[in-house]
Amino acid sequence: MNKQVTIVAVDGPSASGKSTVSRRTAQAVGFIYVDSGALYRGITWKCVKEGVDVKDAQAVTNLLIRMNMELFLRDNAVGYMIDGEDPGQEIRAEPVRERVADIAAQQAVRVYIVEKLRMMTKFGSLVMEGRDIGTVVFPDTPFKYYLDADPEERARRRAAEIHQQEGTHDVNAVLSSLRRRDQKDSSRATAPLQIALGAKIINSTGMTIDQVVDTIVTDLKKAGAVPA
Ligand code: DC
Repeated sequence: MNKQVTIVAVDGPSASGKSTVSRRTAQAVGFIYVDSGALYRGITWKCVKEGVDVKDAQAVTNLLIRMNMELFLRDNAVGYMIDGEDPGQEIRAEPVRERVADIAAQQAVRVYIVEKLRMMTKFGSLVMEGRDIGTVVFPDTPFKYYLDADPEERARRRAAEIHQQEGTHDVNAVLSSLRRRDQKDSSRATAPLQIALGAKIINSTGMTIDQVVDTIVTDLKKAGAVPA
């Protein structure tokens, strides 16, 4: 890893508030924001587009070999193009949402994405959110946070997000979909969702976004990672 850069790893289950918290933390300390889940979603999007079965490891590996994922910096966040296309909000839609945990369970996909994520240090200091950032991608960073919230609270937050994007919401359906995904994410053989050694656990149920961001920023300042 480039010695000049600082990595802030933010892991946790779906809808634990990681995205908003990580984006705002990055803004507050002047680091670049990385949504690692968006890369897993991008590959899922490409599979859907090309009719590749996300459970077929060989077909997915072949796709990874022939496709090209290019990284770029936009608005202090890392973005990507797949074969020259930006999938945009399609990575948040139902076909991707329902398949992404199967893609994230594939060893070849994880190797491919972990390499891309490590390459992002070329852009500068990062706040990177995901599931395995503190355990696998950057295990040596001293700045690891595990963000959690009660499942019902997470389902409410995710339902509100889906409602905004698609105009419909059903908290119970979202809760069972989240539970299915949590189960897959934490029981898969490769890089399951785990609390990294030395990670600070923040349960954000009942906390505002600002309070969570403040907790992390204060911690980074105390550690001298950013100017006080
Ligand atoms: O954070 P998200 O909901 O956009 O993540 C989408 C999927 O990718 C989810 O099933 C978890 C998985 N993921 C992962 O396995 N490792 C990461 N570092 C980030 C996301």
